[in-house]
Formats: sequence, structure tokens, C-alpha cells
Amino acid sequence: MSKKPPTSSAEASSMPVKNYPKFKEPYRSHYHFTPPEKWMNDPNGLVFYNNTYHLFYQYYPGDIVWGPMHWGHATSKDLISWKHQPIALYPDEHGLIFSGSAVMDLKNTSGFGQPEKPAMVAIFTYHLMAGEKASRNDYQTQGIAYSLDEGQTWTKYDGNPIISNSGIKDFRDPKVFWHEPSQKWIMVLVAGDHAKIYNSANLKEWTHLSDFGKHQGAHGGVWECPDLFPLQVAGTNQTNWVLLVSINPGAPNGGSGTQYFVGDFDGNTFTSNQKETLWIDYGTDNYAGVTYNGLSNDQRTFIGWMSNWNYARDTPTEVWRSAMTLPRKLTLHKNKNEYYVKNYPIASAKSYEGNPIVLPAIPGGNSIAADALQQSRIQFEITDGTKDFSIAFSNDQGEIYSLNYDASKGLIYTDRSKSGQIDFEASFGKGTHEAPLMADVHQPLTVTIHLDASSIESFINEGATVLTDQVFPNVPYNQIQFNGEGVNFKNIEIANIASIW
Ligand code: FRU
Repeated sequence: MSKKPPTSSAEASSMPVKNYPKFKEPYRSHYHFTPPEKWMNDPNGLVFYNNTYHLFYQYYPGDIVWGPMHWGHATSKDLISWKHQPIALYPDEHGLIFSGSAVMDLKNTSGFGQPEKPAMVAIFTYHLMAGEKASRNDYQTQGIAYSLDEGQTWTKYDGNPIISNSGIKDFRDPKVFWHEPSQKWIMVLVAGDHAKIYNSANLKEWTHLSDFGKHQGAHGGVWECPDLFPLQVAGTNQTNWVLLVSINPGAPNGGSGTQYFVGDFDGNTFTSNQKETLWIDYGTDNYAGVTYNGLSNDQRTFIGWMSNWNYARDTPTEVWRSAMTLPRKLTLHKNKNEYYVKNYPIASAKSYEGNPIVLPAIPGGNSIAADALQQSRIQFEITDGTKDFSIAFSNDQGEIYSLNYDASKGLIYTDRSKSGQIDFEASFGKGTHEAPLMADVHQPLTVTIHLDASSIESFINEGATVLTDQVFPNVPYNQIQFNGEGVNFKNIEIANIASIW
């Protein structure tokens, strides 16, 4: 959050907005979540209850740049189509409402609900502007609020803040979950360069248990938005714990990104022997992602904010700003002695697809015309991973975005330097975004690409390597180029995806 503008609405810009039909504005995502209007950043309070997925999010209803933070709210039955709901949480005397999580207090440990009417409890960071302006370093504290009507109306706890601040400048983004073995709530939050773990019996009183990460992982920027959860290693009975930590700046391709640690959690302490720094996504536009409470562990579902603090407030949209990633299922894998996490779009995304065009094979060096590419899934296989190849999407104005494979280096990289509008911010169109092909390089290599009006998400080998990039072509891409000498692109599928609005 290094590039946030002043937070008083008087200072915020007011852009003239053209009169577009609702949800038909240029660059509006058609099957990714966007707010109806104004500024959005991190996903917050992801919780599943009563057959409904709740998505809360950092929201400033006053402008399309960051400002005094509220929690916006939306609900869904399948994580793809969303219903916008009234704003859930407003700033109060303790501060703005920064990122956090939500739980269903099914055992009524907090006493906020009744056994047959459990409370939804939101746990978030208060950010007191007056404290920041006075250059104090204790202005971020943790607070809670509860709802007895599934997130429609909220009451702030009158004992807020529940965790005060003893002088840690960046002290935020609590993720809370119920830990069955210890029969306690666990909270993980970040404190500048490390994560802190707490527990509680009632969501109100918290005990600090341990710290993690001062000397592990990437430290090119401030740690933000942690998440901690167990995952079973695919094909085994072994369960490990994964800690997600977003960091800004310091991501592998610039600005904001999300690293993760695979290790163990014993109810008190998280430990990890991991040597390498691993990233959920090597594109520049997947930040502050966290997972759902209320789902079983084999349905561990992640949503990220599809932007980057380097240019989040400069992107060329007028009515709203930024979208969420497709919801992705996380799975844990082991290759030799290394663990890694895959993330791949959840199955329900498929039910929005029309019948795909299926092509058995296209030799490298060919192009095909494809309408409605701006709402589509493209998939193909490469049997011979020893040769370089690329797939590129281009339009009639010569704008082009490519996904490339460098066989000798074992690298996947994307190039958006000529993808459309790029000069709204200096770094946006610079260089390529590189990612290592993750450990399970197998034959064939499968590539799945999701295009929406202003984003391209590429998943290699079912999400072993992922790159998510925003793009702003001046007219939609309508051509696919398959490049690679002696490369045969096989089992090609091109499916259009219906709009959710
Ligand atoms: C991450 C972040 C969080 C903070 C929120 C404020 O993008 O900086 O650490 O709670 O955004 O909007």
C-alpha cells in the first residue's frame, strides 16, 4: 500500500464519467467479480454459510481511487455469479475498516448469537488516520463486528479494539479460523516483517502464541494479508499447513505479490523448513488473496485482488476500479522433497461456457481468427516440452499479448508491452513477467488461459505455474497466433464464456 493517495474525500479526484449502460463499460470484467462502481481492493471476510458464499472487500464508495476504507459485500451461490449487497462495515471512531476475515460462530463462543441463530463475526483492522497523520506507530488495532442476518446488518463490538497496538507500525489483516484440535479460534496477522499467531476461546480475548518469518521468505516489502490452513498432500494421507503472505513491494515481477510457506502448525507455532521462496502467481495482478472459511479442506478456495499497488489507481477504467481473480482451488503437491501449491479455477467456472471449438492439432506458425476472445477459455497441450513455443492474442490495431515458453531455461513468461493501453503508469508495460515451470514438468504440458475484458490468467499444468496479468487492449483481441518451430499444439479448445451481469 505504498502508493495510496490522501484519504480525505475532499482531496480525492473527481473524474467525469461517461454514461455507459450498466456493466457494459469498456474493460468491465464479465465473469470476474467487480464492484458496481468505485474503488475496490483486497477480498475480505470470505465465508461460506447456508449455501451462500460471502465476499466482502476493501471498498471506497466515494471515488475510484483508494480512500477511507469500508467493507463492500456480495453473495454468490457458485462463486462466479454475484449479487451486490449493501455496504457491510463503515469507518467509526476507532478508524477505517482495513482487511480481515469472517467466521460463523456456530458454537456461539462469543455470545453474540443464539445456538439456532449463529453470529457471523468479522475480524478486521482499524486504521486510525489521526494517528497516522500524527506520525504515531500504534494506529492499527484489531476490531470485531457481528451480524445476525447473514451479513446484511452489522453491530460493532462495544469492547473494540480487541487487540491494541504496542507500537508496531504495520499491524494488520487478521485471518481467523476455528482450530478443532485445540478447540480454539486461531488468528494470524502481520506485523511488518513477520506473522503473529494468537488464540481465543471467544473471539473477544486473544492470547499471543508465537511469531513466524522474520528470517524466512521474501522481505522486499511489508507483509500483508496472511492466511493459514491445512492441505493434504495429493496422493498421500499426509497433511501439511500452508501460510500465505502477501508482500508489497518485493514480488518477483515487481510491486505486489503473494508468497507461501509449506510447513506445520501445532496449534501454537507455525514452522517451515522451506528454503526457496515460492509464489502463488508470477503475473503482476494477483494480490492479497486469501481462502474461504466454512468449506472442507479439500475445497480450499482462494480469491485474489487482480491488481498491483504499483498502478492500481491508474488503470484506465472510469466507473469502477479493479476485479477479483477467478476463484481458484488450492492443492498441495510433493515432488522429491519439495512441496508446492497449485491454484486452478474452480469447476463451476465451466458451467458458464458455451460448447467449445475443438481442434485436434495446429502446427506452430499458424493463426486463427476468433471472435469474442475477450470472454473465453483457451486450452491446449504440448507433447514435446523441449522446444520453445508461444501463444499470442492480438487485435486489428496490432496490439498483442503473449505467453511464451523458453525450454532451455525452463521458463514461462508473459509479455504485455504492446498489449494495448500501457502508458498510464511507467512500469505497467515494461519487461516480461517470468515464472519457473514448477517441479512436475510432465509430458504433455497443458496450458489453460482465461481471458476477460481486462485480464488474462494463464495456468500451466493445472495451476503448477500461474501468471495473472491485467491488459487494456483498445479493441478486443480477435486472433490467436500459435508459434514454435516444429511444435504441435494439440487438443485445442476454445470456449466462450457467458456474462454474469
Ligand atoms: C493490502 C492492504 C492491506 C490493508 C488494506 C487497506 O492491499 O494494504 O494490508 O489492510 O490493503 O486497504
